Amino acid sequence: MKRFFLTLFSVVALLANAGTMPVYLDCSKPIEQRIDDLLPRLTLDEKIAIIHAQSKFSSPGIARLGIPTFWTDDGPHGVRPDVLWDEWEQAGATNDSCVAFPALTCLAATWNPDIARRYGIALGEEARYRGKDMILGPGVNILRTPLGGRNFEYMGEDPYLASAMVVPYVQGLQSQGVAACVKHYALNNNELFRHNTNVIVDERTLHEIYLPAFKAAVQQGHAWGIMGAYNLYKNIHNCHNPYLLNDVLKRDWGFDGVVVSDWGGAHDTEQAIKYGLDMEFGTWTNGLTEGARNAYDNYYLALPYKRLIEQGKFSTKELDDKVRRVLRLFMRTTLQDYRPRGSMCSAEHYATARATACEGIVLLQNRNATLPIDVNATRRVLVVGENAIKMMTVGGGSSSLKVQRESLPLEALRSRLQPLGIEVDYARGYVGDTTGAYNGVTTGQDLVDRRPAQELVREAVEKARQADIVIYYGGLNKSQHQDAEEFDREDYGLPYNQDDLISALAATGCRLVVVNISGNPVAMPWRDAVGAIVQGWMLGSEAGEALADVLTGAANPSGKLPFTWPEKLGDVGAHAMGDYPGTKRADSDIWDEEYCERFYVGYRWVDKAKTRPAFAFGHGLSYTSFKLGKPAMSATAVTAADSITFTVPVTNVGSRAGAEVVQLYIHDVKSSFERPYKELKGFAKIYLEPGQTRNVAITIGRDALSYYDDNQHRWVAEAGKFEALLGTASDKIAHRLTFTLTNP
Ligand code: BGC
Repeated sequence: MKRFFLTLFSVVALLANAGTMPVYLDCSKPIEQRIDDLLPRLTLDEKIAIIHAQSKFSSPGIARLGIPTFWTDDGPHGVRPDVLWDEWEQAGATNDSCVAFPALTCLAATWNPDIARRYGIALGEEARYRGKDMILGPGVNILRTPLGGRNFEYMGEDPYLASAMVVPYVQGLQSQGVAACVKHYALNNNELFRHNTNVIVDERTLHEIYLPAFKAAVQQGHAWGIMGAYNLYKNIHNCHNPYLLNDVLKRDWGFDGVVVSDWGGAHDTEQAIKYGLDMEFGTWTNGLTEGARNAYDNYYLALPYKRLIEQGKFSTKELDDKVRRVLRLFMRTTLQDYRPRGSMCSAEHYATARATACEGIVLLQNRNATLPIDVNATRRVLVVGENAIKMMTVGGGSSSLKVQRESLPLEALRSRLQPLGIEVDYARGYVGDTTGAYNGVTTGQDLVDRRPAQELVREAVEKARQADIVIYYGGLNKSQHQDAEEFDREDYGLPYNQDDLISALAATGCRLVVVNISGNPVAMPWRDAVGAIVQGWMLGSEAGEALADVLTGAANPSGKLPFTWPEKLGDVGAHAMGDYPGTKRADSDIWDEEYCERFYVGYRWVDKAKTRPAFAFGHGLSYTSFKLGKPAMSATAVTAADSITFTVPVTNVGSRAGAEVVQLYIHDVKSSFERPYKELKGFAKIYLEPGQTRNVAITIGRDALSYYDDNQHRWVAEAGKFEALLGTASDKIAHRLTFTLTNP
């Protein structure tokens, strides 16, 4: 009998236990309650373990409690191939070839937040399928100088545009249970000396130009991660920077996610403890080969931190805050109840890559309707240039990808035109970078051509004379000092003698199209001598197809520049004011770089200095034309609490369907503070059939009228007169409407 009761008792106990899932695993419970349950269960070692890396891209979970390893990966325009545990070298997996989406300058050039959301979702699906929990992106550092090596990874020069585009990207990505890690916070605007540049910038410029996109990602996009930048601000590294991380990000913006160090961006245990770093990655880039027993144990936030706690120098107050944030990240990702499983290299992902590319390509110039290629009047096309045959997805630094496929411009154009009986010939024209390898990923292309430069030019010129149209594909590539991490460009001009080649082609009098592949503006001394110029970006897997779509007119271009295209470097505020890349201190390897141009970045500088850019911010042509009709506004006087809506009818007055971007800039007519002449505060992209008219409405609120007052350390809207400038580019303002702000 006794035995019977004992057995009954243990069965009941077992059943009861089976029914009590720990609160932290119960996804029906609020996240904060789950964290409250989990935190006290952790030992000091477990807490320390989850706040730093255990491999190149992962941090440990807590195996004892069934909490999975946390996997990060680059970012930002495709999921990076897997690397070895401790090395940058790729692991050699054969199942990690991805879809490369167009780099973020192209995404920004779509001026289409819906595309950004779709892009984020597709990237999230690829990341999930590959088992990644956090994507190291998107990047939203402002383009301050066209020399910036990583501008191609960012969203251009304007804080409003970057904010509008980063929010849906983050939301789309995170909807798949994959955290965004918005980077590089903040002021990482050049690659040159990125580890030891101390940026000196006034508080107002910081808040008006360099922080808004991060703020939007946090407050509107609810980003779960932010990556600290390598450089310094106020003489302290940004991965543990009290002002940027504790005061602005966490206190003022209410960020509840994790601050992740850029790889190797942490430098000091006490600063990391106190000044906002939550997860340390990449400190020793060679993992175990540094000679320590376990290199990861020697991370600033590993044993050195534990020792300080054991010595009583720190309590667990800061640690518990970091751990809470990391646990919140786990709840949002690896411990989420229903988590999409993702998919890879799907037809939809390719379609998203192509749609982004087609909408982002910018038709900069189109004299005498050089484009689209008139297939009825064309018998012979000549394609010239290395970028017509070169894969562009490998290289450039951490955003380098291993792709399942990449369509190349020459092949794609041939496959469109040859079936129509049009001959497509090719001439190399110049030899640039023939290596095509990054971290063990190789393109497999043999681009070596040993003919002397003059011979390549001669061949191209001779063939151009026979062609009905010449399509030149050049620009930059992903090798050092071009569109690549760690170094900036050395000058504004095109490399490999391309200017001479393009000029020689133009001198034949041929119908000439220049397709510039880059994430940066470049000097174009031959601009007036060529018919059409197409900005082709770093377009990813569907590069060739998307360019062929635009060149043949299958897609009507609708991209708009997300940055100013200066004629020369001296027309850029940062260069005109002369403090790039700063000055090296005599007593250390720190470079002080002062942003003397202040908030006069991009078109703000153009307006102030009255320079004439080659192409203005927001510029982009179409194969059709649009007309903006008479605009209206919802009120002529508003208080700061009101919003105001501007409407304008837009008509497609041409003969093709197409899209136009209506841009709204605000001009503060009279202000007690110096302000840029105009600032973008709203835009809308609209698709119209030929002859169709639709109304575009753009609503703005108080923030669109405000400036950052650095005496009061807050945004201020000052009463007075404002003008709303409505147009289709920063230099193409069609209408001005005056209104008054009363009672701010
Ligand atoms: C880059 C980051 C990148 C990280 C990991 C760093 O060198 O600056 O953008 O996410 O490496 O690859």
